[in-house]
Amino acid sequence: MAHRKKIIAGNWKMNKTATEAKPIVQDILLELKDYDNCDIVLCPPFTALTAVSEALSSVQNIRLGAQNVHQAASGAYTGEISAAMLRDLYVRYVIIGHSERRQYCGETNEIIRQKTKTAIGGSLKPIVCIGETLTEREEDRWKAVLTTQLEEGLAGFTEEDLAEIVLAYEPVWAIGTGKTATPAQAQETHAYIRTELARLFGQSTADHMRIQYGGSVKADNAKELLNQPDIDGALVGGASLEARSFVGIIKNACGA
Ligand code: 13P
Repeated sequence: MAHRKKIIAGNWKMNKTATEAKPIVQDILLELKDYDNCDIVLCPPFTALTAVSEALSSVQNIRLGAQNVHQAASGAYTGEISAAMLRDLYVRYVIIGHSERRQYCGETNEIIRQKTKTAIGGSLKPIVCIGETLTEREEDRWKAVLTTQLEEGLAGFTEEDLAEIVLAYEPVWAIGTGKTATPAQAQETHAYIRTELARLFGQSTADHMRIQYGGSVKADNAKELLNQPDIDGALVGGASLEARSFVGIIKNACGA
């Protein structure tokens, strides 16, 4: 059985200016400067990347992530940001295909596949998001939806590509709603995702890939969720906007 180090990422979404970001990172560093029980990633908005990058420059254990990247290397794409621009700011990770971008920005599995390819080519580690809506869960279509997202979103990737990818399972009905999947429900889904990864890419790749859970993760539910055998971390939204709650999640889930 492969050992998978847990990875906890904070997705700040469209919150916090560069000025507001600095004290949050300072407070996180006070608690987690030398913490090594899990991998930690902060994903502020583009405009705060420089400030957070500078604040993290003295540590190795907390990495910087972005929330999106364009699929093209450069060119006439007004308002977009390339992988090279992110790398230049010492960004290591990038969230791709978040359900909010699928819903509001029309991102399809094919666009997500292209962005993931571009990110890997640009030495960024993609955090690729998948997840079903409430209707899809209630109509018991979640397995088919997740399988399609995996088959199309990860089509054509090699074993080496897949080793760079972190998956994030975020049931859309649990995002920002305070409604978390129960640990048993989340484990069942993560186990299904891993079975599908094994079918598509082989058992070894499936055993090594980390799958985060996301959706109303808080300090008081993180431990039970991350104790599940197939849950390898968390992608945290609202509770990552305050140092105390983000640190609480990490320490509760991975040890003080
Ligand atoms: P919340 O933790 O606010 O539910 O958001 C989850 C999420 O979408 C992280 O990417």
